[in-house]
Amino acid sequence: MKIGSLKLKNRIFLAPMAEVNDIAFRKLCLDAGAGLVFTGMINPLSKQEIDLDDKPALQLFSTNEKGVKEFIKKYEDKVKLFDFNLGCPAKTAKKLGFGSYLGELETIEKILKTMRESTKKPITVKIRKSKKALKILKIAEKYCDAISVHPRTKEQGYSGEPDLDFALRIKKRTKLPVIYSGNVNEDNLEERLKQFDFVMIGRKAMGNPNFFSKVLGKKTNFNFLDYLNLAKEYNLKFRIIKFQSMWFTKGLEGGAKVREQIAKAKTIKEIKEIYSKEILN
Ligand SMILES: Cc1cc2nc3c(=O)[nH]c(=O)nc-3n(C[C@H](O)[C@H](O)[C@H](O)COP(=O)(O)O)c2cc1C
Repeated sequence: MKIGSLKLKNRIFLAPMAEVNDIAFRKLCLDAGAGLVFTGMINPLSKQEIDLDDKPALQLFSTNEKGVKEFIKKYEDKVKLFDFNLGCPAKTAKKLGFGSYLGELETIEKILKTMRESTKKPITVKIRKSKKALKILKIAEKYCDAISVHPRTKEQGYSGEPDLDFALRIKKRTKLPVIYSGNVNEDNLEERLKQFDFVMIGRKAMGNPNFFSKVLGKKTNFNFLDYLNLAKEYNLKFRIIKFQSMWFTKGLEGGAKVREQIAKAKTIKEIKEIYSKEILN
């Protein structure tokens, strides 16, 4: 169970999710047993300070290799590996030409080469289903230690069925470890782990770090208050905490009513009170 030189305790990871994977949430997922946790995508040129106490896999997105080396040098000691995003389907990605809209193979190669030359830590790349995927795979084989595949097209975004056969074809074509992403759940996890080297859990883990312990046969019972304690420790912004409180009440009895109340809350204290009164009572 290795990616490059990195030993992993299991093959079930938290998928990169921008906005969702703050340090408090990542820490809960790790405590629940996730084998590796990814940050959301980060622009190497942004001045934002990133909390990496949990030693995550740090994902970057870019349209060129500018700033990539400096970024990697800055964070090298604090992460398990560096991942390159070639999958983001968002409007801003289209406008600026990054993620799934970064089409020029030459540019992709320049960025991956720069990443490779900047660190001894493992490098991974995350792709979608596309006509260029096999060409990107060839480049990845030169520089990367694993490849993540989310087999939906950029037009599909996050809906519709992921094309499992597409991901299996990638797996067949390469010796690189393949990390599969797309609708992995309790029911298909075992099968996906037979088909691929690693899997990533995205939406199933949102607001539910206990997903990992459940499928690993461990017992954790983290709730929003556990998240809140960590969020306070790391001084996370109110906007992020409010957003997480919505996810942590997803699927719970009375959750919809709680979310309506939380939507109006103006302080962390208010959110905590609403949650404690409506969910924990
Ligand atoms: C809210 C949200 C944010 C995401 N942000 C990222 C991101 O920053 N980088 C990335 O590679 N994928 C991102 N993804 C895609 C996920 O990593 C994953 O590939 C996708 O959601 C499919 O897996 P799932 O069905 O388990 O959710 C995001 C997905 C969601 C739902």
